[in-house]
Amino acid sequence: MAELKSVSIVGNGSCVPDKVLDNAYFEKIVDTSDEWITTRTGIKERRAVEPDMVTSDLATKAALRALESAKIKAEDLDLIIVGTVTPDHPFPSTGCYVQKNIGAVNASAFDISAACSGFMYSLTVGCRMVSTGSYKNALVIGADILTKITDYTDRASCVLFGDGAGAVILQPNNLGHEVIYTYTGADGTGADVMVQPAGGSRNPASHKTVDERMHYMRLRGREIYKFAVIKMADLVADAAKQCNIKVEDIALVIPHQVNQRILEAAAERLNMPMDKIFVNIHKYGNTAAASAPIAFDEASRSGKLKKGDYAVLVAFGGGLTWGVTVLKW
Ligand code: ACO
Repeated sequence: MAELKSVSIVGNGSCVPDKVLDNAYFEKIVDTSDEWITTRTGIKERRAVEPDMVTSDLATKAALRALESAKIKAEDLDLIIVGTVTPDHPFPSTGCYVQKNIGAVNASAFDISAACSGFMYSLTVGCRMVSTGSYKNALVIGADILTKITDYTDRASCVLFGDGAGAVILQPNNLGHEVIYTYTGADGTGADVMVQPAGGSRNPASHKTVDERMHYMRLRGREIYKFAVIKMADLVADAAKQCNIKVEDIALVIPHQVNQRILEAAAERLNMPMDKIFVNIHKYGNTAAASAPIAFDEASRSGKLKKGDYAVLVAFGGGLTWGVTVLKW
């Protein structure tokens, strides 16, 4: 593995909207039940934005909280990366809106599209840019508003998703939680497993695409389920190997919150007790690129980890894409 010069996470923050969609809400709009949703997914609630809110609004709040926890000013930032598949607009980037909103006048800004792995990709790119010494204070965000591209007539998918944002600040030192390993991968042969069919160059927006509900996500849940269990377990085991530690040396795995049963099956494959897997899916559902950094923010504020502990962030999603990061607390 290529050696990273010391890079650490020196601050973090997250944000979810106030509005709660509980399982009772879905019982009213589709043929489902609290019992089915809870036993099949582990989700009890998710958060949803109001119609006038955009992804950069959530990203901005998470960013301000991360800046506060890092004790730096927006003007100190020289880089902003936002992982998202629900940008405010196809262009300009959501990163540019965040830059404007927080007044990060010295930062370059761009977005990365890797679906639920968007934050892990952004973190990897951010770490590499900071580790060259060219960037001193990088803001890395995962943010998505999936409720705006969810088909609320499709019971198989609509119960799964929520909105949110999570952010971290990276610096080229070992003063925070040190990033000791990052890895990303992709398999484009699985591109059709999860897709937003319209709105891009293949199916530009038209009356037909709207009539056929093609601007909503379509997914093959069963295939994602199998892929996710194997990929999560393999990524964690391989990351441990690359870092010359054992799986049992990992204090906490902080995964993309895809489905409680997927997390349990992956933990079983890893022979890991569930108390070493951070879970908040019951509160937020699947928030795509926001999922891992919100979980990271909550795990970090919970005081679960102590200095020297190893924590592993891991995510997988549409593309297909995946990413893993090992931190030394
Ligand atoms: N309420 C009640 N019944 C439902 C619902 C619902 N909300 N959704 C599906 N069903 C029914 C189906 O119609 C089917 O009925 P049938 O047997 O009469 O045909 C039955 O439940 C079983 O359906 P499955 O799709 O086989 O159910 P499964 O146990 O696989 O659970 C789920 C579905 C929860 C979507 C699961 O496959 C999953 O979690 N997949 C991965 C999550 C995912 O797709 N995430 C998308 C983002 S990608 C990512 O984050 C990596």
